[in-house]
Amino acid sequence: MMTVCKAVAAGNVASNRELIDGHFLMNVKLPLSLERPLPGQFLMVRIRGRREPFLGRPLSVYEFQRHVKNVTCEFLYRVVGKGTQFLSQLRLGDAVDVLGPLGRPFEIYPPNRKIVLIAGGMGIVPMTYLAGHYRSSGAGRNMKIICYAGAQNADALVGIERMQTCSDTRISTDDGSRGYSGLVTDLFARDLRTYDPRETAIFACGPRPMMKQLAVMLKDKSFPCQVSVEERMACGVGVCLGCVTAVKDDWGKRQYKRVCKEGPVFNIQDLIWD
Ligand SMILES: Cc1cc2nc3c(=O)[nH]c(=O)nc-3n(C[C@H](O)[C@H](O)[C@H](O)COP(=O)(O)OP(=O)(O)OC[C@H]3O[C@@H](n4cnc5c(N)ncnc54)[C@H](O)[C@@H]3O)c2cc1C
Ligand code: FES
Repeated sequence: MMTVCKAVAAGNVASNRELIDGHFLMNVKLPLSLERPLPGQFLMVRIRGRREPFLGRPLSVYEFQRHVKNVTCEFLYRVVGKGTQFLSQLRLGDAVDVLGPLGRPFEIYPPNRKIVLIAGGMGIVPMTYLAGHYRSSGAGRNMKIICYAGAQNADALVGIERMQTCSDTRISTDDGSRGYSGLVTDLFARDLRTYDPRETAIFACGPRPMMKQLAVMLKDKSFPCQVSVEERMACGVGVCLGCVTAVKDDWGKRQYKRVCKEGPVFNIQDLIWD
């Protein structure tokens, strides 16, 4: 099994603030040697010197900027367990180690396509970075980008403002406290007929049930649709096999692929959702 070695980059926290309950925006200063992550790629972030948790946590990139003396990488994350809890306690100047960029990025289509993004919860992070990538590439500046962004309720909607600056953003909440009342896939389903598969590319990231529902909706349609899958990870570089997910091979038979290596981006119809 071949693995590509990536150097660990030593960074320092430039800011880390709570945007809404349990959701943090962290900016990390890193050396110029860190490659610009492509949309869909992720970084393993670890607190330097900490034994517990020993392993880094995979995070998508929310924003990346190159400066004269360093680069800055912004992460938007939700506290769900020990690793993210410790991240949330980091203060200005604290040391973190970053490994990456890792994983297979989204395939970027030429700017003659309409781009539809579907983001559930923290799926807004890679979708925003992707939208920003299109907007900052000369030809993509005038592209039509539509984002369907969903959360459980208005208080859990995070990161929407930045998305609104680079797309026509349509919001749903499960309880109807903001935007469309219902699931984000239902909101998208209402518009699906208006999109032509020959000129539309769909990208999605969100909870598994959301992506499973999207796969059902698109089953007999010819839209290209790439999704970013979030599995628990240990090594992040293809060695431990801790992140495998079931996919179909060329004959439709079940096989397993490593999300950190062959993913996290997959074509939606290649994934097995049971
Ligand atoms: C490629 C990739 C990109 C990611 N990008 C982001 C991001 O930008 N922002 C963000 O908030 N989170 C992101 N995640 C999820 C994030 O990595 C996990 O929430 C984090 O690793 C949890 O670590 P923990 O120690 O806090 O929780 P743990 O103690 O490890 O787990 C706590 C709970 O969270 C669940 N959990 C843990 N990891 C995942 C996961 N990967 N997917 C779904 N549930 C999980 C566990 O099942 C458990 O119920 C990403 C995951 C991947 C694989
Ligand atoms: S996390 Fe170790 S193989 Fe993917």
